[in-house]
Amino acid sequence: MKPILPGSPWLIAHRSMLGINKPYKFTLNGQDYVLWQNREGEISTLENVCPHMQAPLSNGWICEASNSIQCPFHALEFDGEGRLVKDGKAKGEPIAKKLNLVVQGDFIWTYGGYEPRLPIPDLISERSQGLRFLGVVGCTSIPAAFLNSIKINYDFNHQNGVHREIFRIRENPVESFEPNGFEARVVQTFLRERNSFNEILKNPSLLTLPQKIKNELEYSFPSTTLFKAQLPIGEILQFFILYPESEHQTRTFVLCYGSLHSPLFHIPGFRNAWERSLLSSIAKVVEQDSGAVASLYPPQKPKIRLPKEEILFYVEKLYHEW
Ligand code: FES
Ligand SMILES: [Fe+2]
Repeated sequence: MKPILPGSPWLIAHRSMLGINKPYKFTLNGQDYVLWQNREGEISTLENVCPHMQAPLSNGWICEASNSIQCPFHALEFDGEGRLVKDGKAKGEPIAKKLNLVVQGDFIWTYGGYEPRLPIPDLISERSQGLRFLGVVGCTSIPAAFLNSIKINYDFNHQNGVHREIFRIRENPVESFEPNGFEARVVQTFLRERNSFNEILKNPSLLTLPQKIKNELEYSFPSTTLFKAQLPIGEILQFFILYPESEHQTRTFVLCYGSLHSPLFHIPGFRNAWERSLLSSIAKVVEQDSGAVASLYPPQKPKIRLPKEEILFYVEKLYHEW
């Protein structure tokens, strides 16, 4: 396939997604890779194809002593450089292909083997500083092209359709949109209907959502969209991550952080229940977005336009002029 946005930095995973000494398979721009993290937190990545008879290395297992991966077919062993390991020792030139990563704390980035064209964005590390990490949710492979998948993050008219349930958003006026190269910032407000008693019972995090919520979005094209909600009990930060798996498949997941204070959190178990309910609402949002994007027919020239769509033109332009 023709690579999508070659040279852009992609956030492949957060460390918490990896486990220890477990093969983790991912696909980027049409190529499958296997990644593993050892007990010391060192991370290795190879192309997933065994150089012997092309078995998928990710179906194999990790040898802890030599920090290598063993092929599931004939049990040949390769270290993180792609060299053959025999009797616990790596020998000769690499024969499996290594992928270079940029590991920054808990964030695992890669340029997918291309010459970097943008620096690794510091949006996540800067904005999440000092906040509580709540977890990663909504890890989904969307059966849709990258451009369609990213556009929904810049679409301020889909709340009443795609997300008509849960948050009951009546209106979401956009107060400002400031594009600045590959970065952009949007300020908007959610005006919500009241939730029914039953909805709150099913989803206690709704209890802490006011009728009016101030949101800030920060974009770092193409990998990251930060959605920051200002609630009376504090701030919730959601980093929506995207990368192209192939021409028609896009990976997404959300990193969630919060700085939350409420007298309700003194009730035993309330904080946990609240956080669980928040994370499952975010996962639901991802499911709704992914479902909507995956259901679209092939693009045609729109015969009608809505307000606030200039933000969509901005991201289309960045994509097409890459
Ligand atoms: S295919 Fe991997 S060892 Fe033979
Ligand atoms: Fe959405």
